Amino acid sequence: MKPTTISHLRQWKQSGRKFASITAYEYSFAKLFAEEGIQVLLVGDSLGMTVQGHDSTLPVTVSDIVYHTHAVRRGAPAALLLADLPFMSYATPQQTFDNAAQLMRAGANMVKLEGGRWLAETVQQLTERAVPVCGHLGLTPQSVNVFGGYKIQGREAADADRLLEDALALEAAGAQLLVLECVPVPLAQRVTAALNIPVIGIGAGNVTDGQILVMHDAFGITGGHIPKFAKNFLADSGDIRAAVRQYITEVEAGSYPAEEHSFQ
Ligand code: KIV
Ligand code: NA
Repeated sequence: MKPTTISHLRQWKQSGRKFASITAYEYSFAKLFAEEGIQVLLVGDSLGMTVQGHDSTLPVTVSDIVYHTHAVRRGAPAALLLADLPFMSYATPQQTFDNAAQLMRAGANMVKLEGGRWLAETVQQLTERAVPVCGHLGLTPQSVNVFGGYKIQGREAADADRLLEDALALEAAGAQLLVLECVPVPLAQRVTAALNIPVIGIGAGNVTDGQILVMHDAFGITGGHIPKFAKNFLADSGDIRAAVRQYITEVEAGSYPAEEHSFQ
């Protein structure tokens, strides 16, 4: 199978083809996701919560992401594989380079980091050093202690404008992809239209170029508080492979996320 690259995602954006992506943390699920047609996978620092059982992503280390990236890459050799730079692992240039190098050596094709224009220099430095970067704006979970909880972002007009400017700054700095998490649909629409790079949404409505879900949310494994945007695709089919295919089909058709999964 031919590897999926960022060029494919750019073509999909231009042609209006929506795409589904999902988090993966280990070999078997990564393999299954790839076999069922998911071409973009993320080793998210959400593993701090879904795999390790912490109440935030902050305890996750670079070696944790490295460990899981190796396993996911073995399962999905042709996927476009994103890996998260965890909390405080991109605070200084030297740290950023060392840590990004570890993720790339483990098999990532691109690293993801959380934040806006203040990371423009970091994004540029990584890109110049051959590390493709995916930005992440909106509800950035590494900032949960600043936000005071997991809350929708960009509701006020001024916040929305600032988020759009952050997105443009990341793109100008060389970011090749952007994740937009928990923002009102009209803002997601504005950002997706304003950027040339593909935008992947989670809790951002069906207007973005792609969608991403934490795999545990897609199968109803998540206990406690279930995010509004989550959908249990396993509920109807009772079969994991069928659930993954249903997720892909609904994303491509634009029927997931529906209004009930989105913030207006
Ligand atoms: O860590 C993660 O799973 C993520 C996605 C929710 C985008 O960053
Ligand atoms: Na993450």
